[in-house]
Amino acid sequence: MPLLLQLEDLQSYAFSPLESPSKVLMVRPDHFDVEYQINPHMKGESQELPTIDKQRALFQWEKLKEKCEEIGLSVTTIPPHEGLPDMVFAANQSLPLDSKRVLLSRMAHKERAEEVQYFKEFFENHGMTALELPEEVGKFEGTGDAIWHPGMDLLWCGQGFRTDRTATTYLGEKLGLALAPLTLVDPYFYHLDTCMCIIDVQTVVWTPKAFSERSQRMIDGFFKRKIEVSYEEAKTTFACNSWSPDGENVFLPLGAKQLKADLSNLGYKVHELDTSEFIKAGGSVFCMKLAYF
Ligand code: ARG
Repeated sequence: MPLLLQLEDLQSYAFSPLESPSKVLMVRPDHFDVEYQINPHMKGESQELPTIDKQRALFQWEKLKEKCEEIGLSVTTIPPHEGLPDMVFAANQSLPLDSKRVLLSRMAHKERAEEVQYFKEFFENHGMTALELPEEVGKFEGTGDAIWHPGMDLLWCGQGFRTDRTATTYLGEKLGLALAPLTLVDPYFYHLDTCMCIIDVQTVVWTPKAFSERSQRMIDGFFKRKIEVSYEEAKTTFACNSWSPDGENVFLPLGAKQLKADLSNLGYKVHELDTSEFIKAGGSVFCMKLAYF
């Protein structure tokens, strides 16, 4: 089934409506830390692993949870586990497919591999089917790389660093998802959610340099409204790791000045959130939650 590789494929495909995920899953940051380096953000200027202020991290995490609740989202948490310092990034261990099924990830790094079983457990305990990728399929990091287009059955998928082409091909050809593969080319933007954020059906926030030319052409041609974030702002503030749960409110990492102004001018309700402790590990707002059906 459909792998939509070119802009023309996207433009001629008849998408079906799909309601957006409305539930939120988060993992408390009790064991969050930077204990290894698996992306270029995880080293400070001195090339040493950064120190995490645990109190501050918890405070920032709670603010995000409160913000979700304030706009009416229901947040469920699953317990964190010692020795899994990145488990707090709940976007990565699975991809919710619909209200009955999730696809479990195959993490790119062994340091994170064990996180997946706890998400499997959670979904199975909630009566859902947790699908596993077959052996021959390579790595895949859930909604870090696979992002649903709001309102339609189109899945945008980053590949190159944490997700292999074998995985996107499997999702398209075997699971039958209408999928647009995007090639990521810059190690600072190692997940799709670090360089692209879909705000609503017609609006995307992105930093073009993170993508191959083919991919730039697809994004540029498909979205009616494109908000470009400068390479510097995207890299230092994680601006593209924003999240709009409903196409109206946008949760934005603190300090993304230009993007904040652009979104406000367009009439979105912008909520800035300080995620500085999590940025030291290479993640922000979008990575810190899983949206599921
Ligand atoms: N330290 C984590 C890693 O490198 C951060 C993950 C951030 N998540 C995201 N969806 N970008 O895997």
